[in-house]
Amino acid sequence: MIIYKVKNEEEMGKKAASILAAQILMKPNAVMGLATGSTPTGAYQQLVKWHQQGDLDFSQVTSVNLDEYRGLAGDNPQSYRYFMNEHLFSHVNIDKSRTFVPDGLEADADKACQAYNQIIRDVGGIDLQLLGIGPNGHIGFNEPGEVFEKETHCVDLTESTIRANARFFDSMEKVPKQAYTMGIKNIMDAKKILLIASGEAKAEALHQSLYGPITPQVPASILQLHPDVTVVADESALHWMG
Ligand code: GLP
Repeated sequence: MIIYKVKNEEEMGKKAASILAAQILMKPNAVMGLATGSTPTGAYQQLVKWHQQGDLDFSQVTSVNLDEYRGLAGDNPQSYRYFMNEHLFSHVNIDKSRTFVPDGLEADADKACQAYNQIIRDVGGIDLQLLGIGPNGHIGFNEPGEVFEKETHCVDLTESTIRANARFFDSMEKVPKQAYTMGIKNIMDAKKILLIASGEAKAEALHQSLYGPITPQVPASILQLHPDVTVVADESALHWMG
């Protein structure tokens, strides 16, 4: 595992973007596993900049996103599909038909999840998976629990996640209570993982994940078993590292 400790959120975004861009330069038809949340926005901004300068070509790239709220349509500004369009897809030359996000509008959870597993298989697996981390150690929407869920599944979001994500909605009540998310096996099958975190609120989760016991109570702790993980985090998230 490589850990880059950078000064602040901005540096985290730049470093993460460099790693994502390197993957695309090394393999122009890479399958990029992408993430939402406020943590990756700086990286996406930098990727857009490089694309606009003519330095980064997305024409052969495929993307699969980690998760989506159940019940939200792609044109709902709170949906993760909308987020990805706004922050990345609409500003680069990626073929939108090769950008995948679980179908939040599919009411049949089994169908939605099976279809997404199939998509991940059909695209040939993920070359590089970008991950943020929840303050409770969740990755994607794999919440702390009794077992590691393997493949795409429907989750009941925890109180703490609903509270953490309420900042993007008008009120707590409007935050969806369920989501479709890739499972731990889908994530662990990625050839490479890039975990990013910034701020004091992530420090404990990051410490537990990187050095604590491997347990489904801290879903990101499973990453200790992955052979190719890079962590980019800022000083506040890594203050415990000395
Ligand atoms: C959400 C997403 C995760 C993300 C996490 C952290 O719940 N499902 O993929 O990593 O929250 O979000 P943020 O980057 O906004 O702190």
